[in-house]
Amino acid sequence: MPIDLRSYDHIVVLTGAGVSASSGLPTYRGPGGLWEKEGLSDLATSEAWQERPQDVWKLFGGLRGQVREVEPNAAHLALARMEALADGAFTLVTQNVDGLHQRAGSVNVVELHGNIHQTRCSSTDCKLEVFTDELAYEEVPVCSLCSAKLRPDIVLFGEALPVLGDHLATRALRDCDLFIAIGTSGTVSPASRFVRSAEYVGAHTVLVNLEAMDEGGSAFKEQFIGKADELLPEIFLPATAT
Ligand code: OAD
Repeated sequence: MPIDLRSYDHIVVLTGAGVSASSGLPTYRGPGGLWEKEGLSDLATSEAWQERPQDVWKLFGGLRGQVREVEPNAAHLALARMEALADGAFTLVTQNVDGLHQRAGSVNVVELHGNIHQTRCSSTDCKLEVFTDELAYEEVPVCSLCSAKLRPDIVLFGEALPVLGDHLATRALRDCDLFIAIGTSGTVSPASRFVRSAEYVGAHTVLVNLEAMDEGGSAFKEQFIGKADELLPEIFLPATAT
């Protein structure tokens, strides 16, 4: 049965790497996943940033180039249409750092884990604004204001979420009556707990993913199993196929 978005006033969508898989970007876990490659997940940590920032830049600088080469797919486009067609509030919270939702036309996007296309100063006291940056640095760049190291604006393991993103996601979940998680393994907190928050406030909870989540322990009331770019245009009303 399709789900009519017009029956809901406060929709929250959570996306993960599976949404960008059909654009040609790797997921983090599972076959071909980035973190399945020896040593790579160790680089996405706060310790690695302290001890070998050049290697951290090598990882994320390489990803910048990869992301630049790809285009939003039918899942990103369907989500942008869903936002445009929904009658009520629509918040898209993403764990993805690739910026493909915005490129597809989504407007109310909350980036929980940062954005690969942005660089910021590593000093929390510095006034340098976060800036758009496509460079893949060979050497660790330094801040023009305070000479501290510049870093990709990405949340590393062991770091807190951006305050604004965390606040906006928490606020949206408080009122939500439809929660849809798409293309995420549900292994990284706090996003993995969002479905429980949504369930707690009485929302209808839906998963769209290549793999099902453990039926017994899952808080999802409905699961659609398959590729997001094929399923999304079919599941939701009004029709979102382009
Ligand atoms: P994962 O790689 O953990 O999970 C991707 C999920 O997408 C898996 O459950 C796949 O089955 C599913 N999937 C793959 N292709 C799909 C497709 N075409 N359509 C639908 N589903 C598909 O990615 P995330 O859950 O996003 O954090 O990972 C969460 C966080 O872990 C990331 O944001 C990243 C990582 O460490 C940081 O870097 C801070």
